[in-house]
Amino acid sequence: MKKIIVTGGSGFIGSNLVNYLIRKSYFVINVDKLTYSSNKLSTKIRKKKNYKLIRADINNKKKLTNIIKKYKPKAIFNLAAETHVDRSIDEPKNFIHTNVNGTFNLLETLRFLKKRKIAPKLIHVSTDEVYGDIQIGKRTDEKHKYEPSSPYSASKASADHLINSYVRTYGIKAIISNCCNNYGPYQFPEKLIPKMISNILNGKNLPIYAKGMNSREWINVEDHCEALFTLYLKGKNGESYNVGSGYNLRNIDLVKKILKIFKLMNLKISSKSKIKFVKDRPGHDFRYALNINKMVKKLKWKPKIHFEEGLRQTILWYLNNKKFLKKISKKNYENRMGLEI
Ligand code: NAD
Ligand code: DAU
Repeated sequence: MKKIIVTGGSGFIGSNLVNYLIRKSYFVINVDKLTYSSNKLSTKIRKKKNYKLIRADINNKKKLTNIIKKYKPKAIFNLAAETHVDRSIDEPKNFIHTNVNGTFNLLETLRFLKKRKIAPKLIHVSTDEVYGDIQIGKRTDEKHKYEPSSPYSASKASADHLINSYVRTYGIKAIISNCCNNYGPYQFPEKLIPKMISNILNGKNLPIYAKGMNSREWINVEDHCEALFTLYLKGKNGESYNVGSGYNLRNIDLVKKILKIFKLMNLKISSKSKIKFVKDRPGHDFRYALNINKMVKKLKWKPKIHFEEGLRQTILWYLNNKKFLKKISKKNYENRMGLEI
């Protein structure tokens, strides 16, 4: 059975990717520090014979080296990261620790192991935020310059630069994906979509930064997982690939869509669950938008899930998995973050 390591496999995208790879009959080793944003996955997966969870920080070189030596995986999908922009404004240090130093440590481990003829392919999951604000009407391709705005996106950009330097200097095998905003099951409710769903379920108001005119491109997490698997199978070493849907929405329109779906499903909406315009995020990027021609033309991948249907399924998932939200301590996401400047 082919083995794959997923770092951050207990997070939102990671747990969906673990599921995806197990369905493809891989043996998956999940290396995760189990921070606040991690989840325990379904019992069904935890009991699988082809799944192993190892609690570890990607900064721990000795542990990483031993894990890679022991399992000799075909590939490492690196999803271990600090991921919330607002948190990065309050506490940038954690973002440098994991996203920069952690990626550096992973690369150093791979450099050391390459000399011992152990050379798994690294698929590193980066973000469209490295490109910074994109003007209305434009979409960025992979050659666009890096202009990160937040400590989060700067830490992700740093990791991408380090990876490219290790490919060129040491011949490490690595591919980077730059993906847009994901939505789907298991997302921690500090992020826009699960936060709005959770607030409606709990009869709370729906805080929108500024006037909600900022625009994001949305992809279903399942489409993202398929894109990552395509990169593992067909991606060219040393290259970056944009992964997106081409589907942009202003935040205000997205929240209205969520409310509309609740109404169409005859779900109760408390009179308290109204849109509330709140103070803007400092340094808030206005718009991200990707050109995904490279993935579509060179690797024959394209997203399949229609946004409205994917959003409806996501709302249903949160309704059917209320214990996922119950287990999360409210203090971890209900207070406004990212205003400390
Ligand atoms: P998440 O916050 O839900 O999960 C991150 C996981 O990483 C958690 O399980 C956490 O415990 C683990 N982790 C954190 N620090 C670690 C460390 N030092 N060592 C080992 N594990 C550690 O994040 P996510 O939304 O699933 O994002 C996964 C990756 O995808 C990140 O690299 C993120 O930058 C990228 N990304 C996310 C999105 C999105 O919309 N969520 C979009 C594009 C790219
Ligand atoms: O673009 C990819 C990125 O998408 C990933 O790299 C990040 O890890 C991921 O967190 C996400 O970043 P965003 O900042 O776009 O996601 P967030 O859900 O925090 O915010 C989405 C938009 O909604 C953004 O314009 C801010 C706004 N927002 C967010 C929250 C949490 C609100 O208006 N109200 C809110 O309560």
